[in-house]
Amino acid sequence: MSETAKIILEGKTYELPVVTGSEGEKAIDISKLRSETGYITLDLGYKNTGSTTSAITFLDGEKGILRYRGYPIEQLAEKGSFLEVAYLLLNGELPNAKELEEFEGNIRYHSLVHEDMKHFFQFFSSNAHPMGILSAMVSSLSTFYPKSQTPNRPSKDVIRTIYRLIAKMPTLAAISYKKNLGQPYMYPDNSLGYVENFLHMMYGMPTEKYVPDPVVVDALNKLLILHADHEQNCSASTVRMVGSSQANLYSAISAGIAALWGPLHGGANQKVIEMLETIRNDGGDIHKWVDKAKDKNDPFRLFGFGHRVYKNFDPRAQIIKRSSDQILGKLGINDPVLEIARHLEEIALKDDYFIERKLYPNVDFYSGIIYRAIGIPTRMFTVMFALGRLPGWIAQWKEMIEDKEPISRPRQIYTGANKRDYVPIAQRK
Ligand code: ACO
Repeated sequence: MSETAKIILEGKTYELPVVTGSEGEKAIDISKLRSETGYITLDLGYKNTGSTTSAITFLDGEKGILRYRGYPIEQLAEKGSFLEVAYLLLNGELPNAKELEEFEGNIRYHSLVHEDMKHFFQFFSSNAHPMGILSAMVSSLSTFYPKSQTPNRPSKDVIRTIYRLIAKMPTLAAISYKKNLGQPYMYPDNSLGYVENFLHMMYGMPTEKYVPDPVVVDALNKLLILHADHEQNCSASTVRMVGSSQANLYSAISAGIAALWGPLHGGANQKVIEMLETIRNDGGDIHKWVDKAKDKNDPFRLFGFGHRVYKNFDPRAQIIKRSSDQILGKLGINDPVLEIARHLEEIALKDDYFIERKLYPNVDFYSGIIYRAIGIPTRMFTVMFALGRLPGWIAQWKEMIEDKEPISRPRQIYTGANKRDYVPIAQRK
C-alpha cells in the first residue's frame, strides 16, 4: 500500500496521500484537505509548502546540491554555454550540435527591438532604475506582439515569444544602461555570441569597435548559467502565478522581474556593494557593522548573507567565489571596497551569530564583486541577474502551462473585524 499521513482533527482521523519526488523528497498532499475537513494549512512565506511538482531543477539546501534537469551546476558552469543551458532548461535535454545551432540562430534572428520602442525610453527620467525600465519594456513587448495573448495554446507563436524574450532582453537591458549614461543606443551585432553581443551593446560606441576581454566573457557566461534557474523562488513563483491566470508570457516575465528587484531577492546584489561602500565611507570598521547586523533593535542586515533554502552552503556561491578570486587576480584589480568584502566574509564566517543561524555568503555576495570588477554599474546588477534567470522563468512558465495547472489562488485565515453595521458619517465619533 502506498504511504499515507494521518491527521486527527476534532477526534476524527483522515488519511492524506504522500507524494515522493524522484530524489526521494516527500510531501503530504493536502489538496483535498479543505473539502474533506474544512481546514486549510497555514504557512507564512511558504517556508514549508510545495506549490507544484516540477522536473526542471533539483535543489537540496542541506547538502548544497543544485542540478538543472539532473546535471550538476558545477559541470554546467564549468563546461556549458548559457544558451546551451537555456535550451536544456526549456526542453529537458542538452541540445546536439545541430539543435544548438538552430536555437542560437533563432535567438539571433530576434535580437532587434521594434524601432518604436526606442521612443518609450525617451520618456524615462535619466536616473530611472534599469530594473523598472526592464520590467516596463518587457511588459510592453506584449503590445507589439498581440499573438502572444493566447499563451495556453502550444503554437509557433508561443515558441516565437520565447525566442523573442531571450533575444530581446539583452538589447533592452543594454538600452536602459545607455539611457542612464546618455549615450547612443547600440544595435545588436548578430555575428557575435550572446554574451559578447550584450557586452558590445553595453560598452560599444558607434565611433569605435568594442573588443570584449575573454576573461570577462567567460565570467559572465558562468554567472548567467549559475543564475539560470532556482526552482520555486519568489520570482519564479511569481511568473508561474501570473501565468496561471493565462496572462501572456511577457506580462508574467515582467512580473518576475519586479519580484526579483526586491533587496531580499535579486536586488541583494546591488545592496551588497552599496553596503560595502557605506562601510568604507564610514571608516571601514567591519566589526561595528557586523554588530549592527546582529542587533535585533537595528534593522540593518548583512546583504549577501543567508538564504531561504541553503542552510550549509550555496553551491553557486562556491563556484562564483573561485571565479571572483580568478578574475580579480587576472584583471589585477585593487579595489578597497572589494578588500572590505574579503574581510567581512572572514569575520562573519567566524562569528557565532552567523554560524548558529547558518548564514553564509550567498550567490549575490560574490556576483556583486564580479560585476563590479568587470565594470558593470551597481544599478545594473539585478538586471544581470534577470538576464540569467530568464530561461528558468520561461521553463517554469512552460511547465505550468503544459501541466495544465489551475489558477494559483491561496487561501487565508481571516483575523479582521467581525460583522458590523455601516454607520453614517454624521454619527461617527
Ligand atoms: N544578516 C543578519 N541576520 C540575518 C541575515 C542577515 N543577512 N539573514 C538572516 N538573519 C537572521 C534573522 O534575523 C533571523 O534571526 P533570529 O532567528 O534570531 O530571528 C535568522 O537569521 C533567520 O532569518 P530569516 O529572515 O527568518 O530567514 P529567511 O529564510 O526568512 O530569509 C533571507 C532568508 C531573506 C535571504 C535572509 O537571510 C536575508 O534577508 N538575507 C539578506 C538579503 C540577501 O542577501 N538576499 C539574497 C538571497 S539569495 C537570492 O535571492 C538569490
